[in-house]
Amino acid sequence: MAIISSKKQPSDSGGEPKQRQTQPKTSTKENILQPEAAIEEQGKQEESIRPQRFADYIGQKDLKDVLEIAIKAAKSRKEVLDHLLLYGPPGLGKTTMAMILAAEMEVNCKITSAPSLERPRDIVGLLVNLKPGDILFIDEIHRLSRMTEEILYPAMEDYRLDLTVGKGSSARTRSIPLSKFTLVGATTRVGALTSPLRDRFGLIQKLRFYEVEELRLIVQRSAQLLNTTVTEDGAKEIARRSRGTPRIANRLLKRVRDYAEVKSFDCICEKVAAEALQLFQVDPCGLDWTDRRMLSVIIEQFNGGPVGLETIAAATGEDTQTIEEVYEPYLMQIGYLSRTPRGRVATAAAYKHLDFKPPNEQLSFLQ
Ligand code: ADE
Repeated sequence: MAIISSKKQPSDSGGEPKQRQTQPKTSTKENILQPEAAIEEQGKQEESIRPQRFADYIGQKDLKDVLEIAIKAAKSRKEVLDHLLLYGPPGLGKTTMAMILAAEMEVNCKITSAPSLERPRDIVGLLVNLKPGDILFIDEIHRLSRMTEEILYPAMEDYRLDLTVGKGSSARTRSIPLSKFTLVGATTRVGALTSPLRDRFGLIQKLRFYEVEELRLIVQRSAQLLNTTVTEDGAKEIARRSRGTPRIANRLLKRVRDYAEVKSFDCICEKVAAEALQLFQVDPCGLDWTDRRMLSVIIEQFNGGPVGLETIAAATGEDTQTIEEVYEPYLMQIGYLSRTPRGRVATAAAYKHLDFKPPNEQLSFLQ
C-alpha cells in the first residue's frame, strides 16, 4: 500500500497528523508532499506506533465490525468499497482507519485535507491520478469549497469528471472517466456537511471516545513499540488522563517517558505517571488549563451559566471552533458541561471537581 499525504497541518489538536509515505506509486505536483518531506514532518516514531491492520487496532469495535463486513463483501464481489464518512472528535483514529482500510483492501491511500483543495485543479489532479480501488482520504471534509464539492459529486456517483471547457456561449462540458475509487471523508462536524455531499456516502460512521481500559492497552502497546517500560497501573494512570483519545494517550506517554528518563526512573509506574502529568498540568480526569478555565469562568463569573460560547472564548483566549470541537465534547461526555439553547452550563459534577460549593448549597446558605 502506498501512502501519499498532502494534509495541511491543523491549527490545534483538531485534525489527524500527516502520514508517512511509503514508495508512492503516484504523485501530483502541488498538493502532494514529497515522501522525504512528509517523513520529516511526521516523525518516524509516531508512525511506528500507528496500527497498520485491524488486528492491531484497539477499540471502536462497532466500527471495525461494520468495516470488516464491508471489506469482505467488496472483496468477494471484486468491487471497490463504498464511500465512507467518518465523524467524531479529533484524535480518535479517523486517518488511521482510512490507512487500515487501504492496507486491508491492498490498495493505495492518498491523504489530503479540504484546506489543501481550495482550487478545483487541486482535486482534479488527485482524482485523475487515482488507480482502480484507491482510497482518497479527505480530512476536514466539511471545509471543502463549493466548486471542489461540485466536482466531487459526479466523481463519487459515476466515477466521472465533468469539466467545463471554454467560456460564455462557447462553454461546453467534457466528461472524463475516472478509476473506480473510494472516498473516505473525515470530519469533526458532520452537521456542517451539505446534504448533497453527505448523501453520496454509502457508509456514515461515528468514532466514539475510548474506554480507559482500551486506552490502557493502547498505552502498553505504544510503550512496547517505543521500547519503554510501563507497568499496568502506570499505563492506566496515563489512560485515565487521556480524555478518551488515543492521540492524547500517546502524547502523554511520550511526556511521561521524558520525565522518567530525566529523573532516572527505569519504569513508568502509577506514581511516576501521576507526578509527570501533574507537572504537565493534566489533572486526574485529563482536564488541562483551558478546560479548568472554561469551567471556572462559567461558575465564578456567570453563576454556573447559561453563558454564550463567544463569552467563554473571550475569557479563555481560545477560538470558538476549538472550544466546540476539541474541549466541549469531552467535558460533555464526562458530564461536566451541558449545552442548552441559552448557552453552556456547568454541572454539579464540575463544581465538585473544581472544589466549588455546588449551586444548591450556595442557595441554601443564602436563605
Ligand atoms: N494508537 C493510536 N490509536 C490506536 C488504536 N486504536 N489501537 C492501537 N494503537 C493505537
